[in-house]
Amino acid sequence: MCGIVGYIGKKQAAPVILDGLARLEYRGYDSAGMAVFDGEKVNVTKAVGRLKVLEELTHGGETMPGLAGIGHTRWATHGAPNDVNSHPHFNKGKTITVVHNGIIENYISLRNKLTKKGYSFVSETDTEVAAQMLDYYYNGNPLETILKVLHRIEGSYALGIMFADHPGEIFAARKGSPLIVGQSSDGCFIASDVPAILRYTRKVYFVDEQEIVRLEADHMHFYTMDEEEIEKEATTIDWDANAAEKAGYEHFMLKEMYEQPKTVTDTLTPRLKKDRIEIEELGLGDEEIRQIRKIHIVACGSAYHAGVTGKYVLEGLARIPVEVDLASEFRYRNPILEEGAMVIAVSQSGETADTLAAMREAKLKGFQVLGIVNVVGSSIAREADHVMYTWAGPEIAVATTKAYSAQLIAFYLLAVKFAFVRETIDDTMYRLLLRDLRRLPDQIELLLNSKEKIQHFANRYIGARDVFFIGRGIDYAISLEGSLKLKEISYIHSEAYAAGELKHGTISLIEEGTLVAAVSTQPALYQKTISNMVEVRARGAFLLAVTNVGNREIEKVSDYTIYIPETNPFFTNSLAIIPLQLFGYYVAVGKGCDVDKPRNLAKSVTVE
Ligand code: M6R
Repeated sequence: MCGIVGYIGKKQAAPVILDGLARLEYRGYDSAGMAVFDGEKVNVTKAVGRLKVLEELTHGGETMPGLAGIGHTRWATHGAPNDVNSHPHFNKGKTITVVHNGIIENYISLRNKLTKKGYSFVSETDTEVAAQMLDYYYNGNPLETILKVLHRIEGSYALGIMFADHPGEIFAARKGSPLIVGQSSDGCFIASDVPAILRYTRKVYFVDEQEIVRLEADHMHFYTMDEEEIEKEATTIDWDANAAEKAGYEHFMLKEMYEQPKTVTDTLTPRLKKDRIEIEELGLGDEEIRQIRKIHIVACGSAYHAGVTGKYVLEGLARIPVEVDLASEFRYRNPILEEGAMVIAVSQSGETADTLAAMREAKLKGFQVLGIVNVVGSSIAREADHVMYTWAGPEIAVATTKAYSAQLIAFYLLAVKFAFVRETIDDTMYRLLLRDLRRLPDQIELLLNSKEKIQHFANRYIGARDVFFIGRGIDYAISLEGSLKLKEISYIHSEAYAAGELKHGTISLIEEGTLVAAVSTQPALYQKTISNMVEVRARGAFLLAVTNVGNREIEKVSDYTIYIPETNPFFTNSLAIIPLQLFGYYVAVGKGCDVDKPRNLAKSVTVE
């Protein structure tokens, strides 16, 4: 969601910015632009549409020479996606240029004040207000001016700012939106996320809340909101740069689905010892684990779906009551957190605004928060009291697959560990669960290797109008994620229902040929789900079943059956989701959709 890249140094800035923005494309955007200082003045080019339009307009950056610049990919919030609303925004003489990610909440009142002082605005954006405010307060000292403006802005921002009369500097500031800066022997960089600059440097500084950075070609200075200069520690990024490339796969999503056996292994390995689970980063001793009275899980989208599975697994194994909340609901419902409650915030990006806010709400009420996070150094990772990283590596496709799989593993580890400590499972069960956890990567691999079957089936459904996913218990949680995968990338309307709930309304939508995907991996519920399958089949539904190997009975009521290998019923989500991810993917490919960058979506949802 909005990408920022800035550069100042020995190289031509425009190609560096274009390259960095390309690596942030996964975040989602609808227009792009950049501003480069050519030694005399600042030139700005912006264009609605894909980044390649900007690349073509500037001949890959050649028509915008200069050693300092800022660029942006915009995901529209205030005003339609068009050339005028695209960033950078500037003051009248283009002497002050701004790129922004976030939302300036009080922009209307600020805009009204500036209008009274004679300012006029060309765009509908909140960002232009920041550019004009900088102009209004400018006293020749950029840092002082930026601080004055930031003290008057309410809301969230990651900003990149250039002043034409200070050609040797660019500025960055952050509150509530992600921002990093980096340094190489060739210059200094600003970016919304690490992959944007990984090609140039591995020396990165995570900008903290309400910090301002002044970047020169060979130096960076960090300041507090009180203009106090501070020292910061650099982090060396040790990711494999190739991890953020497609490596021969047609799409990042396909590559990331194929990385799931590794992701699951990487998330399990550091915690799964020979005969026990150790989660050091949890920060809880056995006695504290025994004292947990309740768990609240907060998350959005697929991370929320992982949380729904987490609820079934934690309650089922460790017998701890669990509430799962959509973070956007939790934060505004004044939740009741009782003594002994533990809060878990789940997020791939670690930057999701609602999850971050929900987590802060819990902290405000005095509760410790465990973050299950993928992006190292992200806001949720830094603000959580304890972090359990999912080691999925960079996930580029907007539709999550491998990070979701890793989140499931994190919940399994917690549940099995808590269950053993609280003695709700015995030694034998503990050993069996550990054995089944260890088997998951190979079993996922097996399912991925038989993709042709699901690919063939998916091709028949590229014309589908509606698809329903049904299941009970954990199978309902799997259905939620299967349905989201299909709809978000193929634009086919799909819904997930607890199978028993269909007859309370939704069944009236079933027509001749409507595809219903029934997930049935819980032996105790086989018969119940079969009854629901029979009900929809009698109304003309075409039934795809995903079930455990050996459950042959289901073939009597399904039209097409996918079997998953044998595992403990608490872990079936990790296997059953694979054919559903593949189904969504191949339907979207068959329809010619932009699989990695679905319309209107952003990878990292950093605004409310
Ligand atoms: O980065 P997060 O895990 O916090 O993101 C949460 C959701 O925005 C994300 O899962 C979203 O639903 C994806 N589009 C799912 O594929």
